[in-house]
Amino acid sequence: MKAPKRLRSLIEEGMIDSVVRQLMSGKEAQVYVVRCGDETLCAKVYKEATQRSFRQAVDYTENRKVKNTRQARAMAKGTRFGRQAQEAAWQSAEVDALYRLASAGVRVPRPHNFHDGVLLMELVADANGDAAPRLNDVAFTAEQARDHHATLLAEVVRMLGAGVVHGDLSEFNILLAADGPVIIDLPQAVDAAGNNHAQRMLLRDVANLRDFFGRFAPELLRTEFDHEIWDLYARGLLSTEAALTGRFEHKRGAVDLGGVMREIDDARAEEAARLLRMQTPT
Ligand SMILES: Nc1ncnc2c1ncn2[C@@H]1O[C@H](COP(=O)(O)OP(=O)(O)OP(=O)(O)O)[C@@H](O)[C@H]1O
Ligand SMILES: [Mg+2]
Repeated sequence: MKAPKRLRSLIEEGMIDSVVRQLMSGKEAQVYVVRCGDETLCAKVYKEATQRSFRQAVDYTENRKVKNTRQARAMAKGTRFGRQAQEAAWQSAEVDALYRLASAGVRVPRPHNFHDGVLLMELVADANGDAAPRLNDVAFTAEQARDHHATLLAEVVRMLGAGVVHGDLSEFNILLAADGPVIIDLPQAVDAAGNNHAQRMLLRDVANLRDFFGRFAPELLRTEFDHEIWDLYARGLLSTEAALTGRFEHKRGAVDLGGVMREIDDARAEEAARLLRMQTPT
């Protein structure tokens, strides 16, 4: 196909030879299959901040350390200056996370390059060499579901070990490659230790895995790996060797006031962004 504008500079720089086809147009990026020598790669072209959905912008601001509510409001308002400043950080967050996770042994697409708002990475492929399907597009037996669920929990543990919480993990952001599940789409990944929302995001990521695979293996729906993993992590006891049970005893009585306040702040920021979204032509 004729190379889209945003990919032309990569061709001029000799980073890629040609564009084979467009794979997807997502909320925040367009994804292409490209050729580079005798390799077939994947090029993720980030949309400008103004073209991304506000949901993403809110997630993003939530995920960074926001020191006070005034700053949170300013970010939720999304002034042009604020957005430009965030843009570069948003894009490089995915590249950083990919390098960090790949070197920690997490199965993510191998990053090749990042240039002009385009991420070049391994094309995750199925057994025929075609772009791999998302988990959401595949049906599983109960046994396969249990297997993949266990594999992905181990990946989540490995990611936490590397200090990363995905933050948007679901059946839409995991591909089923010939060699098993591959986790993609990491621009909103957060620092597990230094982020106020890391716990909430980790719990949501793990709950998403449970709910999806629970459709095929209903016994998974009763598991509480989410709380178990975070509890072990918070106590410094999490390792890839730690055997997980899926059971967790909730402590009664203790109220996490800070957590409650953060939830309220989040709800406020989301509401502010929702109102703004209704005013902003998309
Ligand atoms: N490395 C890759 N190999 C194969 N396919 C990929 C790869 N990266 C992305 N894709 C395909 O492109 C789609 C969109 O990619 P991604 O999720 O990273 O972007 P997005 O803008 O967040 O999209 P969405 O809004 O759908 O989540 C994926 O669902 C997947 O089908
Ligand atoms: Mg995605």
